[in-house]
Amino acid sequence: MIAATPEVAKERRKPQKINVRILRQDAPGKPQYWERHQVDYEPDMNVISVLQKVAAQSKTSDGTKVAPVSWDCGCLEEVCGSCTMVINGRVRQSCSALVDRLLEQSPEEIELRPMNKFPVVRDLMVDRSRLFRALQRVKAWVPVDGYYDMGAGPRISREEQERDYPLSQCMSCGCCLDACPQFNKIELQRQPNESDDDVKKRRNEAYDEGFVGPHAISQAMLFNSHPVGKNMADERLEALMAPGGIQACGNAQNCVAVCPKQIPLTTSIARAGRAVTVYALKKIFDR
Ligand code: SF4
Ligand code: SF4
Ligand code: FES
Repeated sequence: MIAATPEVAKERRKPQKINVRILRQDAPGKPQYWERHQVDYEPDMNVISVLQKVAAQSKTSDGTKVAPVSWDCGCLEEVCGSCTMVINGRVRQSCSALVDRLLEQSPEEIELRPMNKFPVVRDLMVDRSRLFRALQRVKAWVPVDGYYDMGAGPRISREEQERDYPLSQCMSCGCCLDACPQFNKIELQRQPNESDDDVKKRRNEAYDEGFVGPHAISQAMLFNSHPVGKNMADERLEALMAPGGIQACGNAQNCVAVCPKQIPLTTSIARAGRAVTVYALKKIFDR
């Protein structure tokens, strides 16, 4: 008897159907519940294509008609970060989660749930506004007041480029925050008769008391070493010294382990810690 090659054996193992277990939630603040779906297998699918099939069918594996499952996505190439969810227990992007690999690890079913640390909008869609608020807190931008020709910019050495380029790849996906034990979920519900502006104000105040997060600390370091971004270096360090700043980091290092862009977050956190200490001492001696 001729033994099957590994490729032929793999081909034979491919399923006809894929079972998907999804943690659903109908609206913010509502209870969550599990639902099972089954879709036809096709080679080379990612989790987004599974979700498209799930939404098109809109019925559970026992045939019950249900509302389409909601999720977020944008670029479909691991650049925008919007499709982040917890897949088989690991927080990651659903556009780059390949079904064939997931089935090798877990042939029975694929489990999808929304990120844990962000308020659920619906099903697998979450509200990541706290992540962007943290970037505002640390002023993660280069201040420019126009697009006129300002001539050649200052030179950046190769060493600085090599140190800082990896930090520029952050896509604000939130994986590092979901995995961080110091980053706790903040979820506020709208009060009766509360206006949009009032809800936003109350929410931002609550966000500003929480941990700013490793992504924001890393971006503060990126912009503090930029030749123009440096102009606001002290303001960023002030933000990192404030409540919910760098002192809230417990150095568990989960963030660096889950970052899909392999950003050296703990190196950035150590850099930020040193910069904050030097800045605080300078403030004392400058009095
Ligand atoms: S090192 Fe700090 S930011 Fe990273 S996971 Fe640990 S506590 Fe969170
Ligand atoms: S640092 Fe990494 S994990 Fe965190 S938001 Fe940026 S890309 Fe995502
Ligand atoms: S859709 Fe943009 S990262 Fe997945």
